[in-house]
Amino acid sequence: MEKGRGMVIRRVQAVRRRFFGKPVAPRRDLRGRKLVVTGASEDSLGHATARILLEWGAEVTVTRRRGAESLAETLRSEVGRANAARVTGRDLDLSSAESVEAFASWYHAERGELDVLVNNAGIHLDLLSRWKEPRRTEDGFELHWRTNYLGTTHLTRRLLPLLEESARRTHDARVVMVVSKLHERGRNRAFFEPPARYSSWDAYGQSKLGLMHFAMELHRRSAGGGLATHCLHPGEVFTNVASAGLAGNSVVEGARNLLAPLEAFALMSPVEGAQTSIFCATATEAEGGHYYRDCSIARASRELADTSVAARLWDENQAWVESHAR
Ligand SMILES: NC(=O)c1ccc[n+]([C@@H]2O[C@H](COP(=O)([O-])OP(=O)(O)OC[C@H]3O[C@@H](n4cnc5c(N)ncnc54)[C@H](OP(=O)(O)O)[C@@H]3O)[C@@H](O)[C@H]2O)c1
Repeated sequence: MEKGRGMVIRRVQAVRRRFFGKPVAPRRDLRGRKLVVTGASEDSLGHATARILLEWGAEVTVTRRRGAESLAETLRSEVGRANAARVTGRDLDLSSAESVEAFASWYHAERGELDVLVNNAGIHLDLLSRWKEPRRTEDGFELHWRTNYLGTTHLTRRLLPLLEESARRTHDARVVMVVSKLHERGRNRAFFEPPARYSSWDAYGQSKLGLMHFAMELHRRSAGGGLATHCLHPGEVFTNVASAGLAGNSVVEGARNLLAPLEAFALMSPVEGAQTSIFCATATEAEGGHYYRDCSIARASRELADTSVAARLWDENQAWVESHAR
């Protein structure tokens, strides 16, 4: 964010916090805990999450598509010398199986231990619903599904052996899925019969519902062994998500630039928005197998009650990931 504008936004957010404060995750000593936070670019939820985790003593690996090393450098300068040595940056593009495989191999070889995976990276494009047809990745999948669901589940499965090892050692390994209340737009039948009319909002919701099925199924399969999964909606947060989703529309982009302080007042700051992620990743009282909002268990879509859908998706996903293993 440009410097002068950044200062105005931060002041507006401080005023907002005074009047509309949200629950805050309780501080926990995280020395010795190793976490991965995906999608931690500047001014994002992942960035605020990683910064707090570092300040609480954790070892954190952060990712973005390109430039993760300089992102780690930025975090080092933000968290001060005492915490700086515990952050590592590594590029990761969830829409590329090759990139996920490369990241996972590097992580296994160079880091070797993982207590908490915060699956935060995600996209929500075409916010003005202009696309009449799905945009597809090179391997033929709808963009949101490919990035948010397939990429994230691929990464999780590849890092699972390390999480299971931590579960045996610490009895407190976690997978945290940053989803969205828009998972409510997803429908179980749409996993198997794509809808006739395309909507990027539905596609985004479908990808998040898929992630929730995956998370709940993983929880059912592993909770007894000390590995818990948590899903959460961060709230409506002032990040880069809208800029990415509105990119290419110069009128809207110009209006947003002018109205940024208003937007920052209406929405939560990344630090406020990160609280539920931090709560799910660290709080001793956070119970796995649930969907959280504002650091509390919330009601999720009824579609999640059908565990046969979760099981079917799990098997299909496993076959897909295995077909991409190196
Ligand atoms: N902001 C909200 O109000 C809101 C509400 C509900 C849910 N969420 C969810 O919160 C999460 C974080 O979003 P945010 O608001 O912080 O958005 P953001 O500022 O746009 O950050 C998204 C992060 O994901 C990364 N990313 C994008 N495409 C990627 C890809 N193909 N592979 C790997 N990483 C990729 C971005 O990295 P690059 O720098 O490489 O683009 C960035 O670090 C998302 O999962 C989003 O769906 C946000």
